[in-house]
Amino acid sequence: MNNFPESVRVVEVSARDGLQNEKQALPAAVKIELIDRLGACGLSTIEVSSFVSPRWVPQLADAAEVMAGISKKPDVRYPVLVPNTEGMQRAIAAGASEVAVFAAASESFSQKNSNAGIEESLQRIEAVLQLAKENGMPVRGYLSCVLGCPYEGDISASVVAGLAERLAGMGCYEISLGDTIGAGTPLAAREMLAAVAEKVAMDKLAIHFHDTRGQALAGIFACLELGVSVIDASVAGLGGCPYAKGASGNVASEDLVYLLHGMAIRTGIDLDALTDAGLFICRHLDRVPGSRLGQIAWRHQN
Ligand code: HMG
Ligand code: MG
Repeated sequence: MNNFPESVRVVEVSARDGLQNEKQALPAAVKIELIDRLGACGLSTIEVSSFVSPRWVPQLADAAEVMAGISKKPDVRYPVLVPNTEGMQRAIAAGASEVAVFAAASESFSQKNSNAGIEESLQRIEAVLQLAKENGMPVRGYLSCVLGCPYEGDISASVVAGLAERLAGMGCYEISLGDTIGAGTPLAAREMLAAVAEKVAMDKLAIHFHDTRGQALAGIFACLELGVSVIDASVAGLGGCPYAKGASGNVASEDLVYLLHGMAIRTGIDLDALTDAGLFICRHLDRVPGSRLGQIAWRHQN
C-alpha cells in the first residue's frame, strides 16, 4: 500500500547547503541573482545562507549582504541556518523571518560540525528557540547523519526518532531528516522515516538526502510511499558539508521535480525555469550541473 502525497513542498537549499561546500566563494551579487531566479520558479521555501562562524564557513560570510540584496516575494519563505544565539542575533539584525537550527544523531559528527556534543548542541538550540519565540519566528530543525555517520558508521533509527521527537518537543515546527553523507539505501530510508513517524507526525517531517552513492531519488521514492510531503533539494545537485568527510551534493531539485511531476504530484514549480537557475549557477562555478536534467540542457547550450 502506498500513501503518495498529492503535493510536495520542495525546500531549495542550493544557496546554503550548495554554496557552503564550494571551494570558491562566489560574489554576493551572484548569490542574490541565484535566489531571485529560484524565487521566480514557483518555489515556496528558499534557504538563503547561514549565520555560522565565518571562520568555519567563509563561503557564506556575506550572509547579511545576501539577505539585504534579495527581492523577497511575499509568498516565499527565506529561512537562514543558525548554530547558536550569536548567529540568531545576526540573522535577526539581517531581517530574517525564519531560521533553521541543526543537531546530529552522531556524537562525533556533532563535535566536528559544531564543536559541541549532541546535548550541548540541543542546549544551544533551546537558547535559539527562546530568542525565536520572543521575535515570533518559526524554527525548522535539521537532524544530520540519520542514515549513517562518516565517523561512526551505522546510526540507529531509534536514536534518530528520539532526537527528532526532542527537537519537535522543543518547538521546531518541522524536522528535516538529513542523510548528510548519502549513505542510505531506499529500504533503510523508509524504515528510518517510519520509525521517526511513530514519534513525530509525518506532516512535521521532511527528508534531506545527499546523493553521494546515487541513492537519493530511490530513497525519496521509498519515503514518498509513506506520505512524506516536504523534500529538501538543491539545483544542479550542489551541496555537501565541509565537516562531513565524503559528503557530496544534495539530490538535484530538477531531477526531483521531474520525478514528482511524473507521478502527478504537484509542486507549483516551473521545471524549465528551475533548470535554467541550475545552469546559471553552474556557469558561475565553471562546472557541469550535477542534475541529469541540467546535463541535458548544458549539452544543448555548449
Ligand atoms: P566555536 O569555534 O566553538 O565557537 O564554533 P565559539 O562559541 O567558541 O566562538 C569562537 C569565535 O567564533 C568567537 O569569535 C565568536 O564570536 C565567533 P572570537 O571571539 O574568537 O573573535 N562565533 C560566531 N561568529 C559569527 N557567527 C556565529 C558565531 N558563533 C561564534 N554564529 C560554531 C562553534 C557552532 C560557531 C561553529 O562550529 C560553526 O559555525 N559551525 C557551523 C559549521 C557549518 O556551518 N556546517 C554546515 C552546516 S550543517 C549541514 O550542512 C547539515 C545540513 O545540511 C543537514 C544535513 O545534510 O544533514 C543542515
Ligand atoms: Mg545537507
